[in-house]
Amino acid sequence: MLAGVSHDLKTPLTRIRLQLAMMDQSPDVEALSADIIEMEGMLNDYLAFARGEGGEKSELADLGTLVRDAAEAARRARQGKLELLVPEGVLLSVKKNALRRCVTNLIDNALKHGSLATVSLDLEARFADIHIDDDGPGISPDQREEAFRPFRRLDEGRNLQTGGVGLGLSIARDIARAHGGDLLLSDSPRGGLRATIRLPV
Ligand SMILES: Nc1ncnc2c1ncn2[C@@H]1O[C@H](COP(=O)(O)OP(=O)(O)OP(=O)(O)O)[C@@H](O)[C@H]1O
Ligand SMILES: [Mg+2]
Repeated sequence: MLAGVSHDLKTPLTRIRLQLAMMDQSPDVEALSADIIEMEGMLNDYLAFARGEGGEKSELADLGTLVRDAAEAARRARQGKLELLVPEGVLLSVKKNALRRCVTNLIDNALKHGSLATVSLDLEARFADIHIDDDGPGISPDQREEAFRPFRRLDEGRNLQTGGVGLGLSIARDIARAHGGDLLLSDSPRGGLRATIRLPV
């Protein structure tokens, strides 16, 4: 059902986006366009989630570049300070689009709950860990497994105008696992949540 609804909504949204592109540009029109682009992104997430991301082929990618692209996508939707500490030149065989989506989802969460998101890389003997840290309230250890459940949102009572549906973490973990890795949640040295994408090297 999710896939069906998402798919049906794509055509009218595309039509609206094209019509907006032909209108005289003004701040209002630009804001509407940005909303439409965000909605299209959300629909793509639901569709990807519904059909599974397994299909994409792995190819060699520069992690620094990938993180930078992911950060740009996240920044389009949210305000906040973004610190990128992933150097260029670290190459890994990954499903590029899926991993970019994974990083974007986690930066989106970090900026939604905190005012600062930091992305860093730890190269271990067997793993590459991409950490996404924030300075928000974090998630208590007993809630962490719950946060991964599709459509589960922990902050309904916290009165945030977050507008999420609760798929970001489920999708991000699916993607990490599709790489033979995992997504780990822990306490961040910045005070909030640390989400770690652990990839085998
Ligand atoms: N960085 C974070 N700090 C604090 N709480 C978080 C953080 N990331 C996720 N959460 C909590 O986990 C829940 C699930 O996160 P998830 O990303 O799956 O969904 P969402 O952000 O609410 O919606 P979506 O990502 O689909 O737009 C969130 O509703 C929030 O309560
Ligand atoms: Mg999210």
